[in-house]
Amino acid sequence: MQLPDNKVELARRGNKVVYDLGEKIAKVFNETKPVSDIFNEALNLARINECGIRSPKALEVSEVEGGGWALITSKVPGVTLAEKMAAEPGRFYEYLEQFVDLQIEIHSYRCPLLQRQVDKYDRMINSLDQLNASTRYDLLQRLDGMKTRRRVCHGDFNPTNVIVAEDGQLYVCDWAHATQGAPAADAAMTYLLFALQDKQQAEAYLEMYCNRADEPVQIVRSYMSIVAASELARKRGGANDEFLMSCIDVFDYQ
Ligand SMILES: Nc1ncnc2c1ncn2[C@@H]1O[C@H](COP(=O)(O)OP(=O)(O)O)[C@@H](O)[C@H]1O
Ligand SMILES: [Mg+2]
Repeated sequence: MQLPDNKVELARRGNKVVYDLGEKIAKVFNETKPVSDIFNEALNLARINECGIRSPKALEVSEVEGGGWALITSKVPGVTLAEKMAAEPGRFYEYLEQFVDLQIEIHSYRCPLLQRQVDKYDRMINSLDQLNASTRYDLLQRLDGMKTRRRVCHGDFNPTNVIVAEDGQLYVCDWAHATQGAPAADAAMTYLLFALQDKQQAEAYLEMYCNRADEPVQIVRSYMSIVAASELARKRGGANDEFLMSCIDVFDYQ
């Protein structure tokens, strides 16, 4: 495919650029991204579309003229919950409530063909070269001891991935890390994503999630070292690695 000249850049990260094409959104990855990852994100999204969760429609995976591959989805006109939270700090708790309720709603869905969460965490922990064999073993033992759950988990649920549509309905994008598994693990990941930005917001999120989901905070915390290891394996790098390593230490040996 050829990208139109009137495309508008929405976000630029390490290995991709997200463009607004008018009616559609193109997530364009550079050549370092395995093509199978892009098809996998498209497949996850198609499955999420089919189970009825409000999300952009998966439309196409195409090779882009000039290099790389793109995932094309329908556009959900609106603003992200992250933008709303930043623009109106006084309404943070109100938006946080909507965010938490949406996550709990997603956790009520089942999608039996999605990848299993334990398999994903197992693979990510095993891929970590920053951790020695004993620490990886401890983490895998801990993962093995967790109760089996099979609920839809987004895997990267944070306010930048929630779009408030023009009619006020909430849509969730960015399903690259979706799995079926334990909601508490998904909440631990969201806590960690908040904590990488703002510790106070992270604590507020955790308290609200546990209250509204009626989930013991101890279960969410028991996943913290596992999700920190899995986030570390994504190699997004920078100053965050130190914090993630500290989460693995603190939560693994307490
Ligand atoms: N279908 C969509 N409709 C509207 N905006 C979108 C859509 N998909 C992505 N965006 C916007 O682009 C941003 C980045 O897209 P996302 O899929 O989350 O990529 P990344 O993996 O880089 O986080 C989102 O935070 C959102 O603002
Ligand atoms: Mg995103």
